[in-house]
Amino acid sequence: MADEDKSKKLWGGRFTADLAAPALDFTESIAADSRMIAEDIWGSQAHAIMLAHTQIISEEDLREILYWLEHARTEYGAGRLQLRPELEDVHMNVEVFVREGAGPEIGGRLHTARSRNDQVVTDARMHLRTRLLDIGEALAALQEVLLEQASQHTETVMPGYTHTQHAQPISAGFWLSAYASMFQRDQQRLAAAYERTNLCPLGAAAIAGTSFPIDRELTARLLGFDGLVPHALDAVGSRDFMAEALSALAILATNLSRLAEELVLFSTYEYGMLELPDAYASGSSIMPQKKNPCIAELTRARTGAVIGRLVQILTMLKAVPGGYNRDLQEDKPPLWDALDTVDGILRVFTPMLAGTSLNTERMEQLVGANFAAATELANFLVRERGLPFRTCHEIVGGLVATLISEGKTLDDYERVQQLLAEAGEELTVEEITQIVDPTACLHRQVSLGSTHPQQVGAIIENLQTAVAEIRQQLTAARNQIKHARHHTDDIIQHVLASSPLSECEM
Ligand code: ARG
Repeated sequence: MADEDKSKKLWGGRFTADLAAPALDFTESIAADSRMIAEDIWGSQAHAIMLAHTQIISEEDLREILYWLEHARTEYGAGRLQLRPELEDVHMNVEVFVREGAGPEIGGRLHTARSRNDQVVTDARMHLRTRLLDIGEALAALQEVLLEQASQHTETVMPGYTHTQHAQPISAGFWLSAYASMFQRDQQRLAAAYERTNLCPLGAAAIAGTSFPIDRELTARLLGFDGLVPHALDAVGSRDFMAEALSALAILATNLSRLAEELVLFSTYEYGMLELPDAYASGSSIMPQKKNPCIAELTRARTGAVIGRLVQILTMLKAVPGGYNRDLQEDKPPLWDALDTVDGILRVFTPMLAGTSLNTERMEQLVGANFAAATELANFLVRERGLPFRTCHEIVGGLVATLISEGKTLDDYERVQQLLAEAGEELTVEEITQIVDPTACLHRQVSLGSTHPQQVGAIIENLQTAVAEIRQQLTAARNQIKHARHHTDDIIQHVLASSPLSECEM
């Protein structure tokens, strides 16, 4: 067989036949891999530079290899690099591109001291890290909108719910900032997943490392990683960093879905506490009056898919023996899908919430209608009359039962006064008015983290600071990746200009 033919065949030596068409269809991973073309080219550039730096290949060979890798990059940038399914995956596509361009004598050296096993997981980590940064930024934007809305409503009363029943008066700012607070933990989980993701497996080769004197630290640096996955067998065979990222995504989606659920409820006629912007709601094809919260509903539904993706990857992993197994190719589709889904939710949620208006009159009407201030009445008796809390609970419980049977509320002050007197507690109407007033209820909550406007204001400020810090960390991480890319580019340009590699800072 001529040398040229050999370079086209994936692994000529051992095989007497090409992969059968149905076998190729079954095994190729072009669809999931096409997202990692840029990463695969960059990874190959860094690897080739390292091979020359450690004198495993010559600088002449490096120049030729880099020339063709750069060519692949421009072709890809111009939308002209189509991955060929017959080459199985992105790694073979990029390598064959170089081999066809540079010829087998030179192009055939690129894969020295490297395996697709370390290559694929390097590409995947590089792609995932960028998507985690995207999601962190999109989530920060959502938090900012929530906190901005919350800061305008620290004095706006609404019913706080437990068991979906009126519980106690809270402020709308308290309600909204609770989500910003939850999302801050999602930020932490995403950051932790990022930390475990941005480590370089390249150089692990197939499983055992390599007998070439490679410099793993150098490739890790050129690719913008924070460090290495040192253990070669672990590096090629483990995907728990993906499960961790998916887990962070599934929890984030779950929190988003809970917000979605409240948006659906609170925008109903029955609650009537908020109005979604027209541009983020749908109509009905038959019922002219309808305005449907479809984005929130789809968020609830798609959260199921994200959770499913987590379960999918865990189930795929749980019986995979150590080292690389082809099962691991099935890691990317669920990961990409979950990233796309969560990213999509965040991108639509932020403008939807920014345009959502609160019906503060309705909130105020609801908060006074159904005994939300009952706990405060009991607390008053504890504080001012020195009674045990359980006794006061009993007194107010009985009072509420009577008011309900009479169709009255706590705002029927005189009746409340009478009923309290019957229980042996004399209060003035002014006192009662003040006790059950929802705004006064907010202002009476003195504990740390309560719904008191000052507490909520402080929480909002702290969260705004925390979100700003997250934004800084995300920007720093992005810059590290950008600088690494520029560093690699500088070396490439230097080598392509036929200057010696020894002049390059590594
Ligand atoms: N397409 C493969 C994947 O996504 C690349 C690694 C293949 N390695 C191998 N030894 N077959 O996992």
